[in-house]
Amino acid sequence: MNHSLPPGVFDIIPFDSKDKWKSSSLWSQVEAIMRNLALSYNYRELRTPIFEKTELFQKGVGEETDIVGKEMYTFIDKGDRSLTLRPEGTASVVRAFIENNLDQLPNQKYFYIGPYFRYERAQKGRFRQFHQFGIEAYGSEKAEQDIEIIDLAFSLYQKLGLKGLKVYINSIGYPEARAKYREALINYFKGVKDKLSPESQVRLEKNPLRILDSKDEGDKVFVKDAPIILDYLTSEDKIHFEQVQEGLRNLNIPFEVNAQLVRGLDYYNRTVFEIVSSDLGSQNSLCGGGRYDGLLKSLGGKDLPSSGFATGIERILQVMCTQNDNLSLNLGPLLYLIPMGEKATTFCMKMAHDLRQEGISTEVDFDAKKVGKAIGRASSMNATYIAVIGEEELNSQMVELKKLSNQEKSKLPFSTLIKVLKLEAENEMLLEKYSELFTPFSSQAESQFFLSKVEYQIESAKKVASDLEKALKSFQNSLNS
Ligand code: HAM
Repeated sequence: MNHSLPPGVFDIIPFDSKDKWKSSSLWSQVEAIMRNLALSYNYRELRTPIFEKTELFQKGVGEETDIVGKEMYTFIDKGDRSLTLRPEGTASVVRAFIENNLDQLPNQKYFYIGPYFRYERAQKGRFRQFHQFGIEAYGSEKAEQDIEIIDLAFSLYQKLGLKGLKVYINSIGYPEARAKYREALINYFKGVKDKLSPESQVRLEKNPLRILDSKDEGDKVFVKDAPIILDYLTSEDKIHFEQVQEGLRNLNIPFEVNAQLVRGLDYYNRTVFEIVSSDLGSQNSLCGGGRYDGLLKSLGGKDLPSSGFATGIERILQVMCTQNDNLSLNLGPLLYLIPMGEKATTFCMKMAHDLRQEGISTEVDFDAKKVGKAIGRASSMNATYIAVIGEEELNSQMVELKKLSNQEKSKLPFSTLIKVLKLEAENEMLLEKYSELFTPFSSQAESQFFLSKVEYQIESAKKVASDLEKALKSFQNSLNS
């Protein structure tokens, strides 16, 4: 094809049978869970532009990082400005925080979802346009803030049903500890300088910490025995790190301290963490983040402590699809209308309009000539119900709803169709809601509390049941008359 996509980017289409993770209904379900989860932790959405001035990322992410050094999509615009497609979210959110004086507002916790751009070698789990869900929180230097963000990340994966994850944490201290550690690293790597990759030899002069996350296999041999940052932390750094660990235990979040974890971006200090999945191959990191006190000040804002994380949405979906073959794609409409003839088509267009206004997903088969073929299309589209509308239905003003999954049929007046289908959608939700009442209570206080709630629910349900009975009777009466 003449106009196929460049490497490292992809389309998100309604259903991709080869790469199910590219199906848009999965993306919207996962993004909805992310938004709701972030809101439940009281993080609010912040959207920044796709491109920013290049210097923001040079200063914010660090000149010596792979991202800034090798991976940015930078271009000169017609006004001779150097601009860059955002390679990550943290620097942009900090810029927006400063530029919009958000420090004046009481809640300084933000989340974002959107595309990011890095010129990396495309492979499984690594793209040139990828998507992140991230959060950033400003104003607290407490370990609890770091615990909260790790908790949010871990809870997200639990909600999405991901299994077999590992949470790695480390502390890289404040600059004071890192200065001493830097010296120790230079001393250590100097001894093996000739054996390091050319890139790491340059890093040794400029930013030796970056050697620790070198992807070169030869470098990794020496990284394994390098001095570790934990031995250079100040006592305050150590106490902070202890508190983070204690807090994670309190929330039953399993973790491992990984002394080699330094993260590939320059702004971090104290807590850093990554959550990895063994189902991702070599690009195994689902998310990364940590504390970055000092970045706000260095970009011209107040000196506020900060922490956050970001997770790649492609990687989440790839793991979900690897671990679960039966992910529901919510693809089909609730009702598929099959009009027979012109008059019926006009009628169905109006009926579909009314149903859609009530939020009922409806499809009209404009080209229905043969009922059998139309039903075939409805079923391959995964419709729940079908209704064939012809001369007879128009005359009687009655419709026969057929459930495709079990062929169950019910005849009802057009006028009640909206109500019946709404009831159907709500019923599903109710069943899901009440199923949790069947789990046993863990204490007497809990059971007492719930008993009073359940009694109230039973009373309300009785009222609904009696209303339904009345409705049913009047419906039967109208059928008989
Ligand atoms: P990061 O580790 O560069 O951190 O990226 C976070 C996550 O984005 C990775 O764990 C991965 O899931 C995903 N990701 C990164 N690059 C790619 C790629 N080329 N293709 C697919 N997925 C990718 C940051 O971006 C920091 N801003 C995180 C942060 C927020 N720290 C504090 N606040």
